[in-house]
Amino acid sequence: MRILIAYFTLTGNTETVARAIHEEAQSLGHEADLRKIRKLKPESLGEYDVVFLGAPCHHSDLPKGVKRFVEGLPASSSFQLAGFVTHATYLPEGTDRKRQLHQEWAGKCLPTLEKTCEAKGIPFAGYFSCQGRPSKMIGMLIHRTIIKDPTEWAEYLPEVKKHPTAEDLQRARAFARGGVDPGRLNTSGAPAVMGGVAAVLDPPCIPDRLPTSAQRFHLSVGLQASEST
Ligand SMILES: Cc1cc2nc3c(=O)[nH]c(=O)nc-3n(C[C@H](O)[C@H](O)[C@H](O)COP(=O)(O)O)c2cc1C
Repeated sequence: MRILIAYFTLTGNTETVARAIHEEAQSLGHEADLRKIRKLKPESLGEYDVVFLGAPCHHSDLPKGVKRFVEGLPASSSFQLAGFVTHATYLPEGTDRKRQLHQEWAGKCLPTLEKTCEAKGIPFAGYFSCQGRPSKMIGMLIHRTIIKDPTEWAEYLPEVKKHPTAEDLQRARAFARGGVDPGRLNTSGAPAVMGGVAAVLDPPCIPDRLPTSAQRFHLSVGLQASEST
């Protein structure tokens, strides 16, 4: 397959994830290109079978330029699109507060991608997100407006500064291969999805009818189960 990993980055976090996905695609024997979005024309994506589109989260959503790029994609494209995002807020797991903050501060990225793809008839193949170290200025803004409590801040800052970690990159690679995160278990002991769903690069099983967000987890577990039998 011809794979494109297209990304936007300001401080390098999303680029690090993009490189991991690129390496994974190449190691699976695919012809894979790694390009910055600003060097691409939306029409050129038609040359590819799968496009991984990556961006940092800005103001809870995709950065404006990335949104414009996605909105400029040709309708009814022949390629599938999978998204990946880095964000400074918490992952949507753990405490209610963390889930709520994730929703508030990074919750629009996935719906923006899904809705735009749906409107254009582009099959949406999955979504990966992980934390990414904020710049000093954004860190200060987060402390002033979101994580004000000194104890919570003292826990949050040293942790977020480590991301994307080697484990994040391993998950990004797993996402590129199959969409299921084998390393993270949910409460029922089943593998949790990273927002990813369809088997993107390795097993050639993009489902005909792509699932809604609500169905995502079940389908991924189903894929995992059928692979192990
Ligand atoms: C202008 C700007 C706005 C941001 N807004 C958010 C936000 O709303 N939510 C969030 O979780 N992170 C936000 N961040 C943090 C970045 O998403 C995060 O640090 C990301 O990993 C940076 O990726 P990059 O190094 O590829 O640019 C923002 C960063 C910038 C520069």
